[in-house]
Amino acid sequence: MSKLKIAVQKSGRLHDDSLKILKEIGISIDNGKDQLKASARNFPLEIFYLRNGDIPQYLRDGVVDAAIIGENVLIEKGGDISIVERLGFSKCKVSIAVPKSSKASSLKDLDGKRIATSYPNTVNQFLEQEGISAQLHIINGSVEIAPNIGLADGICDIVSSGSTLFKNGLKEIQVLLQSEAVLATSPAISEENKALIDKIQFRLKSVLRGRE
Ligand code: PRP
Ligand code: MG
Repeated sequence: MSKLKIAVQKSGRLHDDSLKILKEIGISIDNGKDQLKASARNFPLEIFYLRNGDIPQYLRDGVVDAAIIGENVLIEKGGDISIVERLGFSKCKVSIAVPKSSKASSLKDLDGKRIATSYPNTVNQFLEQEGISAQLHIINGSVEIAPNIGLADGICDIVSSGSTLFKNGLKEIQVLLQSEAVLATSPAISEENKALIDKIQFRLKSVLRGRE
């Protein structure tokens, strides 16, 4: 019998809630984070614990059939991958922020300036749409420190509680998009596994309805 392969964030903000929702739909998984792969006891399913940023490519290649992933990551790296269900947790924004003392109050004020980000495609798309040109510095983490060390005039990153912006003396000036965890599927998924996803989706819908 075929088994559905689902990617879940290895560690980070989505990990716990992803496993929690799988549990709520009656899928019990054998172990925790230490292994990169785990099997469900009562559903033909294997979980792969992967790095967030790698998941879109795994979906595209059909290495995994589906994933629980932040919509923001799909927008950045997986525009071609389809979302099956919005899961309502890990809500966040992707926003532009500048130092509190900056005169900039909208993205337009960053024309010709430097923006540090881990989301270059998302930022570029927005800049293009608004007819603004800025110089991007691509960094993988701790983006909010960039203005303080003179690397950039503004940043674009995830804002959840807002505490990282606050602690680094930054203010949000523009929200580029809203995001939440989603269930996404590979374009290469087999008919058989698609039928398993349909089952999971059916169960998810009833759990999500119950949460409302
Ligand atoms: C993420 C993100 C922001 C922060 C937003 O960083 O990159 O910096 O969380 O959350 P907040 O608004 O609740 O403060 P993370 O801590 O995951 O680390 P990283 O940037 O080094 O990946
Ligand atoms: Mg960060």
